[in-house]
Amino acid sequence: SSHISDDLAAILVTEEQLASKTAELARQIEADYADAVEPDAKPPLLVGVLKGAVMVMADLARELRIHVEMDWMAVSSYGAGTKSSGVVRILKDLDSDLHGRHVLIVEDIIDSGLTLSWLRENLEARGAASVEICAMLRKPDAAKVEVDVKYIGFDIPNDFVVGYGLDFAERYRNLKDVAVLAKHIYE
Ligand code: PRP
Ligand code: MN
Ligand code: MG
Repeated sequence: SSHISDDLAAILVTEEQLASKTAELARQIEADYADAVEPDAKPPLLVGVLKGAVMVMADLARELRIHVEMDWMAVSSYGAGTKSSGVVRILKDLDSDLHGRHVLIVEDIIDSGLTLSWLRENLEARGAASVEICAMLRKPDAAKVEVDVKYIGFDIPNDFVVGYGLDFAERYRNLKDVAVLAKHIYE
């Protein structure tokens, strides 16, 4: 149908809840990096994982009152067919040199955890001073590997969720809320 809301079963996390959580996370990040980064060092580098992290990155970055730089990666977690294979390919790499940098990976969601566990190791191997993770959503029941996340927004049930960057077949990313997709859309 033509209106997005017709495709949704329920709103899971509202725009307001996302905004207040983002502010909360930003205060923690400001405090942590004020201590970690020497005054004359380069500011923390926020690494957004395309495409899902675009909304979180845009909101979190604007909420931060410290200097940061932003860079982007695109990865494909589709290995030999299944999304959960753990095979990750870099489709677009960072422009920045990570040597000595404090890196904060910004993600929309941790599902199986395979993308982030691979990505953290990959970025650590480039000589970063630190690599931490900020993810707005996490599905504990879908975890295949444990990911050590320093900044987490909401733990959510293992439902098919869309919005705020999360897609189904590339649609729904533009929803302001996180919503559960109606069954008739994907069945
Ligand atoms: C989604 C999501 C995370 C990843 C989480 O990205 O945005 O990046 O999957 O899944 P995992 O924990 O099981 O690895 P996707 O690969 O769909 O690409 P997209 O961000 O472009 O939608
Ligand atoms: Mn993604
Ligand atoms: Mg996706």
